[in-house]
Amino acid sequence: MSLLPITLLGHGRLGSALAEGWRLTGAAAPAILTRADEPVCPPDTRALVISVKPANWREAVTPLAASLPSGAVLVSVMAGVRAADIAAVLGRPVVRVMPTTAVAQAQGVAAIWSDDGGARAVAHALFDPLADTVDLDQEALLDPATAVAGSAPAFFHAFAEVLAHAGVKAGLPRDAAERLARGALRSAGAGAATQASLDELIGRIASPGGTTRAGLDALAQAGLRDAATAAVEAAVARARALAGDQPA
Ligand SMILES: NC(=O)c1ccc[n+]([C@@H]2O[C@H](COP(=O)([O-])OP(=O)(O)OC[C@H]3O[C@@H](n4cnc5c(N)ncnc54)[C@H](OP(=O)(O)O)[C@@H]3O)[C@@H](O)[C@H]2O)c1
Repeated sequence: MSLLPITLLGHGRLGSALAEGWRLTGAAAPAILTRADEPVCPPDTRALVISVKPANWREAVTPLAASLPSGAVLVSVMAGVRAADIAAVLGRPVVRVMPTTAVAQAQGVAAIWSDDGGARAVAHALFDPLADTVDLDQEALLDPATAVAGSAPAFFHAFAEVLAHAGVKAGLPRDAAERLARGALRSAGAGAATQASLDELIGRIASPGGTTRAGLDALAQAGLRDAATAAVEAAVARARALAGDQPA
């Protein structure tokens, strides 16, 4: 368990989820910098966790350069901001982490990439208590990881939403359809939290010739795989555009 003195820049949806997870697990007690605070890092800061929006990260981190201790590492949870760009501004080793907001309940998942072993170790100390941490060996893989993990809870929520709409179309009252779809999503989440493979989890519910198999076949025919591919490709393209690799 890590008790690294860290500074958390940005206390929005993800920043507050991280702070909550570290409080819950006792893994870290970050000094939190919001917009209202003087932009100064405490002198014992070993890691600066950057959790502001990609669009305004430069203006947010630049004032911290003078107070950031020389031995500190930078932990960026921002989508689509390249490590080299952050290092160019702050001149410290960078590790990029792409977590989900379930870090608040210490049930997240987080992809990690750095070309610096020390920075990667700091990220593991901070995120192992909060998430299933997945090491990546190329920075470019963070873009698909962002799509498949950081963004994907919203994809599952969107699926539950259209499922509830379909339930209403099939005759369910709206409130009942929504509660049932949300409950189904929770049940799927409970299955995903076990060691069973995804195939096994599907097989436990779908018996040959049954209702679930009929629904799965209809989903496949309607293009579920193409829809997932389109979502991941679009999110990856957006991450690359944010990084300035191609027009936004
Ligand atoms: N939300 C997710 O599920 C998720 C998942 C993975 C990665 N991320 C990444 O996490 C980062 C934050 O996303 P978010 O969803 O948490 O956004 P958010 O809710 O908008 O939070 C960003 C926070 O940064 C604050 N901020 C902006 N400039 C600041 C400054 N100069 N000093 C201190 N704080 C400042 C904002 O304050 P104001 O509101 O006052 O501007 C806001 O509270 C993004 O880069 C995103 O790519 C998010």
